[in-house]
Formats: sequence, structure tokens, C-alpha cells
Amino acid sequence: MTPHTPTPGQLLSVRNLCAAYGPAQALFGVSFDVAEGEVVTLLGRNGMGRSTTVKCLFGLLPATSGEMQFAGTSTTGMPSHRVARLGLGLVPEGRQVFANLSVEENLVATARATAHGRARPWTLERVYGMFPRLRERRGNLGSQLSGGEQQMLAIGRALMTNPRLLVLDEATEGLAPLVRAEIWEALAALKAEGLAQIVIDKNVGAVMRFADRHFVLEKGRVVWSGDSAALRDDTRVVSQYLGV
Ligand SMILES: Nc1ncnc2c1ncn2[C@@H]1O[C@H](COP(=O)(O)OP(=O)(O)OP(=O)(O)O)[C@@H](O)[C@H]1O
Ligand SMILES: [Mg+2]
Repeated sequence: MTPHTPTPGQLLSVRNLCAAYGPAQALFGVSFDVAEGEVVTLLGRNGMGRSTTVKCLFGLLPATSGEMQFAGTSTTGMPSHRVARLGLGLVPEGRQVFANLSVEENLVATARATAHGRARPWTLERVYGMFPRLRERRGNLGSQLSGGEQQMLAIGRALMTNPRLLVLDEATEGLAPLVRAEIWEALAALKAEGLAQIVIDKNVGAVMRFADRHFVLEKGRVVWSGDSAALRDDTRVVSQYLGV
């Protein structure tokens, strides 16, 4: 492993990350970083390694090699509950809200008092302020919610852990256009407050408007990275790797 010194303002650094499912290698030396307050995307077609990268970040899948640092602490090999305590919040693929808990129970189930840095701590009231629909549905079970409401709940639940970096695996997948717009608006408000984010989403147009930098994955490797202006100009990348 190559030791490296984090640059000032850097929140997350991933270096040469490799991972496998049994004998099948899925990541082949993925490197990227996220600065404080920055929004970064992981782009790519289906099966290219975006969720696998997320699983490694959260200690849900062990890296076979490589190095990860979050807020100056090495998280390589760290169990997921400790990674979460450092301030990484996950909105997982498929949302995974607790079906048999109410909206409010889902929100308090994972709440954590530790506020990182100077950020204002998240409360039920603050989450309901961001997503008024959740307040209306506060007594409903997770299983009774629409897809959009479940995604709002998954975001609210992650915020209740007071993250320094929010990671969204499929931010708006399968949602109706109006609900998508509402989610993007909420994420933009979080960005304006300085919350760093890693966003995975198939809607290249939306992420180009919202995110600062992009990392394109192809078969477990980063094949392109750059800012939104560069991605907009590089039609080859968009057609070759993103299939749009
Ligand atoms: N649990 C698993 N067991 C075995 N192989 C897996 C598993 N999960 C993913 N893979 C394989 O790892 C590779 C990367 O999958 P990954 O889930 O990271 O893709 P992705 O970029 O998130 O795309 P999508 O979410 O659209 O499937 C794929 O070849 C996939 O088939
Ligand atoms: Mg995925």
C-alpha cells in the first residue's frame, strides 16, 4: 500500500481500491476523493462497480487491497458501525426502510446525538421541515409509503445520524419526475449548507447541474474524471460509458 498524506480540506480519499465477490473481482484499483462540502458522483452503466465501491466505503464488503481515509482516519478494514460513527451516512440502493416501523420510528431508530464539526444537529423537526410529506405520514408504516416517500425517509434517516458525508446509491431511481425534482431540491439545499455528498444516479443531466465533480466507472475502474463543464463538453464519455 502506498501511504499518502491528505491534502488540506480533503474529507475522503480512496486509493487503489480492489474488491471481489468470492473469486470474481469487481473493483480494480479505484481511486477518487471528496473535499469538504463537495458533491461528487460515481457514474457508469449497470454492474460497473458503483454499489461495490459504496459497500467498501461503509465496511460492508472488505477491500482486498487499497486504502481509504475519512476525515484523517484510516477506515480500511473498519467495521461498518465505526465508519458510520465517524460521520458517513448511507442512503442505500433499494432504500431499505424498516417496513414494520412507522416513519417516525424509522427516523429515531438510527439517530445519533454526535454532531460533527459546527453543523447544526439534525432533529425530527428539521427532517420534517425538509420533507413535509414525512410529517404528514409520520404514523404510517414504512411498507405503506410510496417509493418517493421511502426515499425521503431513507435520506431523513441518514441525516439523523448527523453525517459529514452523505452517500446516496441511486438517489432518484424509479421515482416520478415531480418526486425526483423534490429530491434534487433537497440535496441542493444540503449542499448549500456545506454537506459533502457522493451521489449515484443514472440521470446525467441532473447530476451535471448539481454535482461538482464526476468519476466514471467502467468494469471496476475509473476511466474518466472531471468537473461538470468537462463532462458536458465530452460527448464521447457520455455516449461511450454512460450510454445516453
Ligand atoms: N453480491 C454479489 N455477488 C456477486 N457478484 C456481485 C454481487 N454484487 C455485485 N456483483 C457484481 O459486481 C459487479 C459490480 O456490481 P455493482 O453492484 O457494484 O454495480 P453498480 O455499478 O452498482 O450497477 P447497478 O446498481 O446498476 O447494478 C457486477 O459485475 C455485479 O454482477
Ligand atoms: Mg448499484
